[in-house]
Amino acid sequence: MSNARYEIRDVTIEPDRRCVRINWADDHESRFHFVWLRHSEFFSDVLSTDRVEDCRRLPDDPSTLSVTSVDVTDDSMILHWGGEADDTTYAVDWLRNNCYADESRALRRHQPVLWNGDDGNVRDRFDWQEIERGNGEKLFELFLSVRDYGFAKVFNVPTDEGSVAEAASRFGPVMTTHLGQVFDVKLQPGFNIGATQANYIGPHTDDNWRYAPIGISFFHCLKAHPSGGGYSLLVDGFLAATRLRKNNPDAFDFLNATPILFRSYRNEGEKYCARRKMINTDQDGNIIGVRFTARTLAPQDMPEHLIEPAYTAVRAFAQEIYNPDLEQQYLMQPGDMHVIDNHRILHGRGAFEANTGERHLQHCSVPRDEFHNTLRIAAHNRGMADEFLLMADGAIG
Ligand SMILES: [Fe+2]
Repeated sequence: MSNARYEIRDVTIEPDRRCVRINWADDHESRFHFVWLRHSEFFSDVLSTDRVEDCRRLPDDPSTLSVTSVDVTDDSMILHWGGEADDTTYAVDWLRNNCYADESRALRRHQPVLWNGDDGNVRDRFDWQEIERGNGEKLFELFLSVRDYGFAKVFNVPTDEGSVAEAASRFGPVMTTHLGQVFDVKLQPGFNIGATQANYIGPHTDDNWRYAPIGISFFHCLKAHPSGGGYSLLVDGFLAATRLRKNNPDAFDFLNATPILFRSYRNEGEKYCARRKMINTDQDGNIIGVRFTARTLAPQDMPEHLIEPAYTAVRAFAQEIYNPDLEQQYLMQPGDMHVIDNHRILHGRGAFEANTGERHLQHCSVPRDEFHNTLRIAAHNRGMADEFLLMADGAIG
């Protein structure tokens, strides 16, 4: 059965732009630069194996390349190059799936769904027992919820200690940090971090003082405080950054361009610091990652003329994040688990009375690239188009 999407109507060589233009049967138009086509020929996704002779291969100098003629068959395009270069052949469907025209790239790009507190509160929760009984579609939906909304709320996770790591391992290998794999979010005298105390904790992303902060976080409730205190709060950092871009573009541009210093020397064995941007965008200007905290923001170390603008910009971003309209509040019960994208979602906690009962959560994390890798494999196994597999990246390196 013919599919106009993968049918070439005609190909034109455009020597001045050093590219070939393909007009497709569905009226789409693609341009592929000679240098891109030459490189693609050697790319290991296209070849079945890496070739030894390509190990130190440089990209071609674009200005030296020319194509003399093109042949098209039902399923491939063959280029005849000027000079000594051998002919190269491309699968037509591969070309179409990798077209980098603006509209094709926009379709492949992941589109996060922004939410405020009210929107977030009404998102469906996932029954972990249903997933454990083998409902792969539910697990896939959970993945997509984290991809699209930055979080998923789960219930019915067994309340045995360590079961958070077992659940997290469905999404990728559980990460080990200086605190181990599973960390107890409960009163721990002698530990000097908010998670081990009873006070209010404002919205923040975790581990901003790492070069690459933890990726996908899992918070699992084993015991809720009997008073009903200690609610969990979630904030969409992408919505906060989007509002900052509109309300204070200078602050947005500053945080999108200038690294900010974070530091954690709070406990024995911690001498962490990292200088990274609070807001990251991709080459198209889309917001792809935020990192924010008030508590591990270090005294800044930057050129004098940037000091005041830096603090002004951080303050403006904080004001957007702290807007009560953004805050989703949720009182976790035993068996509840929050899965959150730490490169997007800020989390926090309401205060609770330390002396009147116990509140106990366990936390672990999975690297963000591992999570997306597992998701892409699941998508591939469902026969989804290659385009879909490119859907999620970004973050805040
Ligand atoms: Fe935290």
